[in-house]
Amino acid sequence: MKMPWQSMLYGGDYNPEQWPREVWDEDMRLFDLAHINTATVGVFAWSRLQPAEDQWEFGWMDDLMSLLERRGKQVCLGTATAAVPPWMARQYPDVLRVDFEGRQRQFGMRHNFCPNSPSYRTFAPAIAGKLAQRYKDHPGLVLWHVSNEYGGECYCPRCAAAFRRWLQQRYGSLARLNEVWNTSFWSHVFYDWDEIVPPNMLSEHGNPHNPDQTAFQGLSLDYRRFMSDSLLECYKLERDVLKEHTPDIPVTTNFMEVYKPLDYFRWAPHLDIITWDSYPRAGTDPADTAFNHDLMRGLKDGQSFLLLEQTPSQTNWQAYNALKPPGGMILQSLQAVAHGSDAAMFFQLRRSQAGCEKFHGAVIDHVGHENTRVFAECQKLGQQLAGFGDALLGSELPAEAGVVFDWENWWALDYSSGPSNDIDYVTEVRRYHKGFYDHNIPVAVTSVDADWSQYKVLVAPLLYMVSAATAAKIRQFVADGGIFLTTYLGGVVDEHDRVTLKGYPGELRDVLGIWVEELNVLLPEDEVIFTVNNPSPALQGCHSGRIVYERVHSEGAEPVAAYNNGMFAGTPAVTRHAFGQGQAWYVATSVQPAFVNQWVRDAAATAGVEALGPKQPGVECTLRRSDKGAFLFVLNHNEFPVRVALDSGWSQDLVSGKTVEAEGFTLQARQAAVFSHR
Ligand code: GLA
Ligand code: ZN
Repeated sequence: MKMPWQSMLYGGDYNPEQWPREVWDEDMRLFDLAHINTATVGVFAWSRLQPAEDQWEFGWMDDLMSLLERRGKQVCLGTATAAVPPWMARQYPDVLRVDFEGRQRQFGMRHNFCPNSPSYRTFAPAIAGKLAQRYKDHPGLVLWHVSNEYGGECYCPRCAAAFRRWLQQRYGSLARLNEVWNTSFWSHVFYDWDEIVPPNMLSEHGNPHNPDQTAFQGLSLDYRRFMSDSLLECYKLERDVLKEHTPDIPVTTNFMEVYKPLDYFRWAPHLDIITWDSYPRAGTDPADTAFNHDLMRGLKDGQSFLLLEQTPSQTNWQAYNALKPPGGMILQSLQAVAHGSDAAMFFQLRRSQAGCEKFHGAVIDHVGHENTRVFAECQKLGQQLAGFGDALLGSELPAEAGVVFDWENWWALDYSSGPSNDIDYVTEVRRYHKGFYDHNIPVAVTSVDADWSQYKVLVAPLLYMVSAATAAKIRQFVADGGIFLTTYLGGVVDEHDRVTLKGYPGELRDVLGIWVEELNVLLPEDEVIFTVNNPSPALQGCHSGRIVYERVHSEGAEPVAAYNNGMFAGTPAVTRHAFGQGQAWYVATSVQPAFVNQWVRDAAATAGVEALGPKQPGVECTLRRSDKGAFLFVLNHNEFPVRVALDSGWSQDLVSGKTVEAEGFTLQARQAAVFSHR
């Protein structure tokens, strides 16, 4: 869908309903000063818009919308449905959730509605429809912001009933359900659908030491899928109403990076554009933020996204809400743009006077004027983004390397009890992604269902859950010439978390050319050492593995490295299998970054995948491309200046407006540049 804006979106969450009317005019003056072009309004305004079931108050919103229109601001309009009003909780208690401990919640907080509540499912689309009807012709309306940061779960009786219906649809018969959940284990055979209850602390997650683990992975996995689908249903109900009134206005809801409860790959097709909220903690590795952006871009197969929220200065909800250092906020904003964002938006534009977010940073601080360091930085960023014009909008980041991320696989691993509590899916995926990032090799994050034809190298760390369809895709990818890597615990279970019998790694055994006989667990202080014995020039030396290590038998694969110590000393730690036109790698332990970096270099060289710039610690390069041109981003995350050499051809820096000499230029500490091609 064509997005209705002509320049980078700049602005953020704006809650004037918390302020007297005269403050709004002052806000407009300050927005102009900061080059703010877009305000996100109404996100938490349900109780102000609908004070009672049959009472509506749109006057203040009409006033706000026309003020924004007069000042030429675009509007991202919230549907207000992320926090239910008090009257609704009192009159329609079915909107309230039951928590993981089985407690019926009372009115309070936000994100507090049961996704299967009939009342919520009536009232939420109703207010969305009212807003759409009223503001559909507003010239500044550019984006619908449905609800806010969907998440959490509910275990109420209505959810339980809806879960049973969902299961009936999925499995058709109890016989099939009993089979895939393996209910003969621990006397769980179900003879009536009503015997099935949601998995929580009162049922399958009864281990207080590890509430994440469940007695029945199949059941808990299905509940996760069902909850993600239930919340998605709520989103779709609102989306459908909005589309009736405003078919040409994009609809979104804001995501939260690797947020565990929701399978964002399943949500993405229902959003016109991905939007997300980035809140790195002080000291976060920029590679982690880069991964988050790449994941968000990957949700819609590379389509550009919007950074819809970040703090201009500090948050209030972290343990240590440090300020971003001077230049840090601009650098983080440009990093988002470097990874495919067409926006840099804030939470929030004016700092609240009271409530739990009073210490959360904002463009306009409590002092109320523009003479603050933070405001000055916002103003500077606004000017830079305005300078980009429409050059970057919708441009893509070509990548020939991909890293697979799979929510269901993550859930399944964490739901399993054993073999080690230290197994961490997200850490493992991030480590391989960082291998590419550190080399400035463009990398995409992709799903098991996406089209992989653009990739020459594909890494799927800890791909524990592999359906027959995914196995077939991997086999085809390698047969066609791709380089594929997976790791320990790969291919162990199917989509129901049932172990694939007749030898690990199950469905991947032939393509990897190995059989994994057994797995041993390392204590936190222990490691296993392995030595590379392979002639490949990039791979060499001794490396260590942690957490677990496996005994691998070659069934055609070539051993690339062997363990020096441990129970499996002398057996392969890393294997490579020539299969069809390509090769499939297996890494049998949780390797440290040094090995990953070597492997990435080796794989990229073999596949002919090129880096964008020299590998230089703390210096990140990305490339965005469209029919308007190619743009090379160079970001210095260091606390000191660096000298960077560029290929000839790159000249004009869009950030500073200066022309640079190709042979070398200096980036100051925390400075970024965006070069266009001469
Ligand atoms: C989230 C929410 C916002 C706000 C910010 C604070 O992203 O969407 O409403 O609470 O966090 O960081
Ligand atoms: Zn519920």
